Amino acid sequence: MHPMLTIAVKAARRAGTVITRASQDLGALKVRSKTFNDFVSEVDHAAERTIIETLQDAYPDHGFIGEESGNQNVEAENVWIIDPLDGTTNFLHGFPQYCVSIALQQQGQLTQAVVYDPNRNDLFTATRGRGAFLNDKRIRVSNRTKLQDSLITTGFPFRDFSHLDAYLAMFKDMLKKTSGLRRPGSAALDLAYVAAGWADGYWEIGLSSWDLAAGALLVHEAGGLVGDFEGNEGYLESGNIVAGNPRIFGQLLQTLAPHLTDALKSSAKS
Ligand code: IPD
Ligand code: CA
Ligand code: CA
Repeated sequence: MHPMLTIAVKAARRAGTVITRASQDLGALKVRSKTFNDFVSEVDHAAERTIIETLQDAYPDHGFIGEESGNQNVEAENVWIIDPLDGTTNFLHGFPQYCVSIALQQQGQLTQAVVYDPNRNDLFTATRGRGAFLNDKRIRVSNRTKLQDSLITTGFPFRDFSHLDAYLAMFKDMLKKTSGLRRPGSAALDLAYVAAGWADGYWEIGLSSWDLAAGALLVHEAGGLVGDFEGNEGYLESGNIVAGNPRIFGQLLQTLAPHLTDALKSSAKS
């Protein structure tokens, strides 16, 4: 394993321990609402502190983009992008679908990824150019060729409803053109599941870089494609993302195309 990935895995597992311990007594947690429907608990903060301390010990000159603590030294050559608990709403309800997501960006390119699901003890990892793995076994995207046979995951808008009409139109079309839609509730795991071939594709509007950085590299390294709603780069900035195996990716883009407003196109300013 690449030495930087080894450190990221150590950080993710430590955060997983913090999260699992807290999951045993959800009633005792202090929860606060950042904005409408955007909850954060002391666990999110504690997990992020653990991750940053672990990475900083090994790499004192690296930068960080953390969901809870913001940006630190982001002009550095190496910047870690961290979601300490992806799927907080699930976590707070005891719904067992959430994870830790850590990615490394080197000179603007994603090079290392870890997505760790402490409930299933699933550790998804990738290093650019070296493939994607689940618990040390190589993973590949599915080889399904028809959208009609595909299982597709997505995320519902729940904080910002500015694209709700466009999203519902996409959803309606996807319902008719696929064999099933799922909304598991953790974007990083949704992408990891595409990488593992457990879902054939995924799309979501308006994510943040920490939701998708690690998952996007996993899909890429598992042989899949990732893009914005027109199939271009720039999803890390816009947060509008489509991912899938190479055959399904194009069919997802075609299905979304009639519903794209100007704000959802690649040319939109993020
Ligand atoms: C959320 C989850 C969810 C997605 C949201 C994200 P959080 O992350 O990934 O699946 O639909 O858009 O914000 O807030 O639980 O870290
Ligand atoms: Ca998240
Ligand atoms: Ca989070």
